Amino acid sequence: MTITTQVAIIGAGPAGSLLSQILGRAGIDSVVVERSSRSHVLERIRAGVLEWGSVEVLRDAGVGERMDADGHVHDGASIVWGGRDHLFIDINRHVGSHFMSYGQTPLQEDLYAAAAERGARFIFEAPDVELHDVLGDRPAITFTANGESHRVEADFVVGCDGYHGVARQAIPSTVLRTFEKEYPFGWLGIMSETPPLPDIVYANHERGFALASQRNPMLSRYYVQCPLDDALDDWSDDRFWSELTTRLGPTIGGQVVTGPSIEKSIAPLRSFVAEPMRYGNLFLAGDAAHIVPPTGAKGLNLAISDVHYLSRGLIQHYGDGVDTYLDSYSDMALRRVWSAVRFSWWMTKLLHRFPDQTEFDQRTQEVELDYLASSAFAQASVAEQYAGLPFEI
Ligand code: APR
Ligand code: PHB
Repeated sequence: MTITTQVAIIGAGPAGSLLSQILGRAGIDSVVVERSSRSHVLERIRAGVLEWGSVEVLRDAGVGERMDADGHVHDGASIVWGGRDHLFIDINRHVGSHFMSYGQTPLQEDLYAAAAERGARFIFEAPDVELHDVLGDRPAITFTANGESHRVEADFVVGCDGYHGVARQAIPSTVLRTFEKEYPFGWLGIMSETPPLPDIVYANHERGFALASQRNPMLSRYYVQCPLDDALDDWSDDRFWSELTTRLGPTIGGQVVTGPSIEKSIAPLRSFVAEPMRYGNLFLAGDAAHIVPPTGAKGLNLAISDVHYLSRGLIQHYGDGVDTYLDSYSDMALRRVWSAVRFSWWMTKLLHRFPDQTEFDQRTQEVELDYLASSAFAQASVAEQYAGLPFEI
């Protein structure tokens, strides 16, 4: 069966679903093809912090209603280390901006609900997507779903299929450049149905990094740095809470309300960038092109900013017959990506204990934190980057 459309989108995560949503509202037809089931995509526990630029993109895309009702707006976030009082990085004061706690899971639900309302074509459980003729005028993707073979022909193919997807692999190795950095630890994350701390708190402790975050008034998200070869069985809830509260320190750790975990997982930390983000009529967006360690909370925000730039290019193409934004997409998106990659790497270095950390490394890390505490300029720089740099016009 052959389906024709204007834009074939691979992957129905936040990047693919948001792209379809923005294009649909602009009268541009797309088909989204996803490897997993809808419920599997919704069950994955991922990010939870939206930059204000992301909040505005989501509102403009018509999916802001529940986010605005349920999201928690923050003026800044805290860092605690060395047994001292926490340092509040005041984004509102330094940059006049905010960010919002709103989970990727409800956001994904909102995007699927909006797609259903539009009657958008989303095809789930298509495990064998292949790309064809991406350098030609009529690129296509083929796959099997419900036991039937399908071919989607389009003007453009967009790979929103995450780090393990197939789209990036359609770019020959003579063209694609990749940059990668792995970190020698993971994050053990838990979700618990307990009231969270009012603020997001990052901790650098001699026992390792910790983070207190949130999803809603009765759902908390917490993380501790752990060795990569730890197993989940090594981490009872009691051990997790004890480690978390120790690392957050007596004042903040003492405010944590503990309870049974409802989810527990270990994730590695990695930085990865693939260049370019365009090859002929194939575009990449989101995790398909780049991964950041979660320390700066940038992964979901980069997926949203890529989609903002790419949808603007496609709307210009179909509306005005002009390709300036499509032609600058890769360069423009990559400038933002590299800036977030650098910030996430820097936050990761600043806040974690590395297994091979020397005393020299330790002292320079401490002095950098002390500088941050003593300098409004340093705090303004962190605030500006955590809030997210403005989109290029
Ligand atoms: N064919 C079709 N779909 C695929 C394929 C494939 N070969 N490979 C992967 N997918 C799907 C995945 O099942 C997933 O649903 O593509 C989707 C990619 O979604 P994400 O991994 O969530 O990536 P993205 O939409 O770019 O969103 C980035 O997710 O990982 C977090 O921190 C990251 O919050 C950020 C956001
Ligand atoms: C989260 O809420 O999951 C979260 C928050 C901040 C981060 C990373 C993850 O830096």
